[in-house]
Amino acid sequence: MNDEENICLIIVRTDENQFVVAHNECPHREKALGYSHSSGSFLCVSGKSEFGLDGSVLKGKAEKPLHVYKWELEQDRLTINLRSTMPVNEITAMRE
Ligand code: FES
Repeated sequence: MNDEENICLIIVRTDENQFVVAHNECPHREKALGYSHSSGSFLCVSGKSEFGLDGSVLKGKAEKPLHVYKWELEQDRLTINLRSTMPVNEITAMRE
């Protein structure tokens, strides 16, 4: 990913002050993603891949995880750091 590229994000609010910000592009063939409230996961619109909120591949054809970005909430402003993806263990620790 380079700085000149447009980046499409999918943002899920998981709690009052908790968010998951992911690159809205399936690593398999770059299709857009949706969010399933019932399963709490990201779904590729092609219906072939599913990702956890930490970006991990749960099932499907994708072989790489989603990019999940670090963010910061200050007052009512959500700032997303597009230069830094969040390691899975850090995301898990935030939820505990
Ligand atoms: S593009 Fe998402 S599974 Fe193929």
